Amino acid sequence: MSRVWGSGELPRHVAIIMDGNGRYAQNLGKSRLYGHKMGVRRLWDILEATLEAGIPYLSVFAFSTENWQRPTKEVKGLFRIARSTVRVYTPKIQSLGVRFLCIGNKRTLNPKDLQAIERLESDTSKNQKLTLAVALDYGGRWEILEAARKAAELAAKGELLPEALTEERFGSMLQSAVIPDPDLLIRTGGECRLSNFMLWQAAYSELYFSQELWPAFTKEHYLSALEDYVGRERRFGRVSKRPFSFA
Ligand code: FPP
Repeated sequence: MSRVWGSGELPRHVAIIMDGNGRYAQNLGKSRLYGHKMGVRRLWDILEATLEAGIPYLSVFAFSTENWQRPTKEVKGLFRIARSTVRVYTPKIQSLGVRFLCIGNKRTLNPKDLQAIERLESDTSKNQKLTLAVALDYGGRWEILEAARKAAELAAKGELLPEALTEERFGSMLQSAVIPDPDLLIRTGGECRLSNFMLWQAAYSELYFSQELWPAFTKEHYLSALEDYVGRERRFGRVSKRPFSFA
């Protein structure tokens, strides 16, 4: 795959809300877990496309703090799929130079899953081509609350003055502080909301909503999203540098 990106810059970090697995499966008369399995395949394609484009950070929302409310069968199935994904894709992740990170509340993972995830994190910690952050039992509010607790603990010990708590300092207390804020946040599946993903980090992200259900979101759809991003002007609250026109 080769593509000329024009004068704009590609994002450094793409974050994706992979929505629509269930509907994809239901449309085919199959179980929701079939949709999640197809979702993993799609994730692999998008990871490859991200590597090919030379984008160094990709993060994906795999399981939210709210997803525990799904039927037990689906929750168990999702974790089974996550386990086999880690097992099956570990050699590929290694050979492609991908660093794996898991963000989210690791305290709720069962010890075996936690061990497998931490092993993959440490085995790939030196890989530099791409960082893949998988959000598992993750919620943006949870992450902000955890950072607020850390700040409050430091303040209670007299190690942090309230006026010393800047955006940078607070941001550095977030669990995902090791990755930059997403430049582009894509949500598939036709819904136009953040659903508690990267709430702090997405303050200035460019948002892209696709009607495609995640398992049907191809590399071509992904490249269209990147192309759309490249054509946008990011102003971060400043005025436009482009000449104004109604055309
Ligand atoms: C949303 O679709 C998707 C999820 C809740 C899970 C996403 C998970 C995967 C792609 C597989 C696991 C990934 C890894 C990395 C192990 P939905 O079920 O809400 O779909 P719907 O809106 O059509 O019901």
